[in-house]
Amino acid sequence: MKSIASAPGKIILFGEHFVVHGTKAILAAIDKRVTVTSSFTNNKTIKVNSQLGSIEVPISSSHEEVEHRLLYNHKTEFRPFVYLANKIINSEQNASGLEITIDSDIPIGVGLGSSSACCVAAAGSIFGLFKELSSEEILNLSIEAEKTIFPDTSGADCTVCTYGGMIEYPSIEKIDNPFDFALLIANSMIPHSTKRSVEKVNKFKENNEERFSQLCDLETKLIDEVIADMKNNNPNTVRLAMSLNQEYLEEIQVSNEKLREMMRSLQEDPLCLHPKITGAGDGGCVIALVAGESINSCLETVRKKFTASVWNQDKECFSAKIDTKGVVWSTIEE
Ligand code: MEV
Repeated sequence: MKSIASAPGKIILFGEHFVVHGTKAILAAIDKRVTVTSSFTNNKTIKVNSQLGSIEVPISSSHEEVEHRLLYNHKTEFRPFVYLANKIINSEQNASGLEITIDSDIPIGVGLGSSSACCVAAAGSIFGLFKELSSEEILNLSIEAEKTIFPDTSGADCTVCTYGGMIEYPSIEKIDNPFDFALLIANSMIPHSTKRSVEKVNKFKENNEERFSQLCDLETKLIDEVIADMKNNNPNTVRLAMSLNQEYLEEIQVSNEKLREMMRSLQEDPLCLHPKITGAGDGGCVIALVAGESINSCLETVRKKFTASVWNQDKECFSAKIDTKGVVWSTIEE
């Protein structure tokens, strides 16, 4: 039997970093997916195959041994898979070994939710070999798994990868795509570590407690206004709010000169105004909301600009639509 699950990547429109400290956020799932396929083996091992390489590790019966292995032995990216596989194998009598294969079209380590989508798809696929799970159970397992690489996660990324669509977090209320926009995503190709960026923001908070608390209040107010603007079909005010959110992100120091240069060069195009960082920052991607009918010409201009400028030459730019399905899973009898 094979158990297959796939989950979408994500962008954060508003509230990254502040959401770790209790504010709201607005996120959307995007039409790029990771697919995880799991099957039984007789090897008493957990084998994981991915674009990043393969590992095969013995099944551990003790929780301490799993923790020790996760901390010291596995490449970070493989930890959620080993964690989930061990968890289910240890609770099921008849399981001997598992082989898990990951296929992804989400760029890795650039803020588009590749690791959260992996955790969600892995939870659905690995546990799907043994039982039927609800989306909520998949979400809870995926957050546990994500904590093996990033203990401070807000849970927002796994949530949108599970449910799909555009959502307000933490309420998980769906927000209808109110106006016809497409997402333009420009990848700086600078990989980042979400864990490190979040630690950096924690330091900023420690040193600037009062200002950080004001910024959290400003972010909450901004998001409430944006939700009203979306309902009232005001795309221009939503875009302006993205610039304001970017100012807050600049202030907590998760931007850098390369990202600012990219945003300046996007902003020169009248079709592509008010870009902002999406996700942890310090590298990764910037996004802009572009009117649906303008996205192709906008992409063409930005790509030409990236090719012409020495600074932006190795960057990539693509468009994405909002995914509405979230995690999907099925089993195949062989
Ligand atoms: C990362 O995509 C988003 C952060 O807000 C971290 C989190 O919410 O867990 C930086």
